[in-house]
Amino acid sequence: MILVTGATGKVGREAVRQLIGLGCAVRALSRSPAEADLPEGVDVVAGSPADTASLEVAFKDVSAALIVLSGDVAREAANITAAARKARLSRIVLLSSGSVQHPVPHGIADEHRTAEEAIRRSGAAWTFLRPGPFHANTSWWISSIRENSSVRCWIGNTPGAPIDECDIASVAVSALTQNGHEGRSYLLTGPETLTSQEQARILGEVLGRELDFSVAPAEEVVRIFTGITGDRATAVTNVAALRSPEVPWAKPTTAVRDLTGREPRSYREWAEANAALFTGEGKST
Ligand SMILES: NC(=O)c1ccc[n+]([C@@H]2O[C@H](COP(=O)([O-])OP(=O)(O)OC[C@H]3O[C@@H](n4cnc5c(N)ncnc54)[C@H](OP(=O)(O)O)[C@@H]3O)[C@@H](O)[C@H]2O)c1
Repeated sequence: MILVTGATGKVGREAVRQLIGLGCAVRALSRSPAEADLPEGVDVVAGSPADTASLEVAFKDVSAALIVLSGDVAREAANITAAARKARLSRIVLLSSGSVQHPVPHGIADEHRTAEEAIRRSGAAWTFLRPGPFHANTSWWISSIRENSSVRCWIGNTPGAPIDECDIASVAVSALTQNGHEGRSYLLTGPETLTSQEQARILGEVLGRELDFSVAPAEEVVRIFTGITGDRATAVTNVAALRSPEVPWAKPTTAVRDLTGREPRSYREWAEANAALFTGEGKST
């Protein structure tokens, strides 16, 4: 049995779909099983990595797990490690973050570093997936594009090679179902280096209209992040890190090709598949 946490999310849902397609027995963890809407045959269990009691049930008879953490990442990783040790899990694939390789202080990096350290102590053979920014992050632009064809960019305009969530899921499935990935960390990117402005241009071409692009000043973004978390100091370092020129995902890596045997999906392909999100006509794929 393979357990997937974060199974209703962007990476987890696609990983579940691919694992079921391969004929694997899959258990999915969700806080809302009734609304999970996962493929037939998936054993959907109520809970989350924050809820230790739910993990006892979730890890029963599980041999391998894809761990996606979306709340308090460091604390949830500690819970997962304790449950994995107890269940004598043999394999864990952790969705970490490329930010752990960031050379500047960074709150998101720190929590994922702590998570990786915890998982190293799980007793299971681990594989860490360290993606750069997801293609789906441009979903943040949906409302302003619908309203007035504009994009206000929060993360700066630093070049990077964003990655498709489906490719992260495919890499996770390879690491879960094939040997040779134990003790390995993979920096995952898409196929090409793009700025946010170039992503907006591509999205505009797909939508058939020009998008007005602007970068929000750092202080504006710090205020927004502080409003969400109440932690101004962390907001300042996170915003500075996201806008620094040394992002680890600046250049494409070969990891997706190496692990899946095919090229990663381009941002244009993501935009074409998800265009309806920006016009209000449909769901993402
Ligand atoms: N976005 C990026 O650019 C990026 C880059 C590198 C790494 N990452 C990492 O990728 C992970 C997220 O992956 P994802 O985007 O596939 O996940 P996601 O879609 O954001 O969420 C996955 C699932 O987690 C549950 N969830 C959401 N918010 C939660 C919360 N506050 N507390 C507890 N559970 C919550 C939800 O499931 P239920 O409601 O069914 O429980 C959700 O479907 C994070 O660890 C993030 O740091 C992201």
